[in-house]
Amino acid sequence: MKRWNMMGRLALFLAMTAILLTGCSGALDPRGEVAKDQYNLIGLGFYIMIGVLIIVFAIYFYVLVRFRKRKDQTGYPKQVEGNHKLEIVWTVIPFILVTILGVFTVAMTFKQDELKPPEDAMNVKVIGHQFWWEFYYEDYDIRTAQDLVLPVDAWVNATLDSADVIHSFWIPQLAGKMDTNPGLTNKMAFHTGTETKVYKGKCAELCGASHALMDFKVVVVSNAEFQAWVEKMKSPPPTSETTKAGEEVFANKCLVCHAITTDMPSAGPNLAGFASRQTVAGYRENNDEWLEAWLRDPQAVKPGTSMPQVGLTEQEMADLIQYLRSLK
Ligand code: CUA
Repeated sequence: MKRWNMMGRLALFLAMTAILLTGCSGALDPRGEVAKDQYNLIGLGFYIMIGVLIIVFAIYFYVLVRFRKRKDQTGYPKQVEGNHKLEIVWTVIPFILVTILGVFTVAMTFKQDELKPPEDAMNVKVIGHQFWWEFYYEDYDIRTAQDLVLPVDAWVNATLDSADVIHSFWIPQLAGKMDTNPGLTNKMAFHTGTETKVYKGKCAELCGASHALMDFKVVVVSNAEFQAWVEKMKSPPPTSETTKAGEEVFANKCLVCHAITTDMPSAGPNLAGFASRQTVAGYRENNDEWLEAWLRDPQAVKPGTSMPQVGLTEQEMADLIQYLRSLK
């Protein structure tokens, strides 16, 4: 009975570990060149550790079987103490292994820190806010939020800052983490990979109540699509008769914090092209239900957000949603 209890616990432990590991599957499925280098480094450590594990367990089980208590055995087995040869072996081997790990880790740290992306790399300023991400494309004078749209097979020179507390910018499949510190600019270069794809981004530094919800997306598109996106972001926001009422609600209630032209900073996320974004509030599907839930009670969707309850009548809510949906 007891043995089964233990087996059950072991199975549960293994299942939990598997679930935890799938949580990291982004970093274990690298796409950009920087992420691939980092993955290889993880691999080196992993295989060394697996090797040690296999050898140690093999010796352990050999000893367990070879020196088990025999039926006819009485009294204590022969007592031994100290073995110089063994002690030297198990000091020297770990020393060599740790040296190998250390050399490769330090070399990679310097390589990635001094990484010089090609001249035509895109310059993007990343600014962490509680609890959203601002992106400023320096080469195009475009400010946007939450969706980092990038061309495929390109290098990005990111400079990272924070508007409030320490956050950490992390796109598991494209590059490792880098902190955004208030008052100190960090740098990081990464490659966008060779496929058009939407990558998940996370904040990786505990930064407040909604730290775990401080997600963003990296939308990697073809070069033509990227150019079209730039054009669109540069053009004035669309207006029409059908969205006039909503535009007025926006001007009265939202414009104080949210810009809808990409050339100016704003306290809250820039909303140009909002309807084409992947998410509402950075992590919920961008549909009318979540948009309405967000506008009605931001704290319920993202605890600790600076977004206030706007206080809209039912008509204003409908008009505003219609207007936001027109910002493509
Ligand atoms: Cu921002 Cu965690």
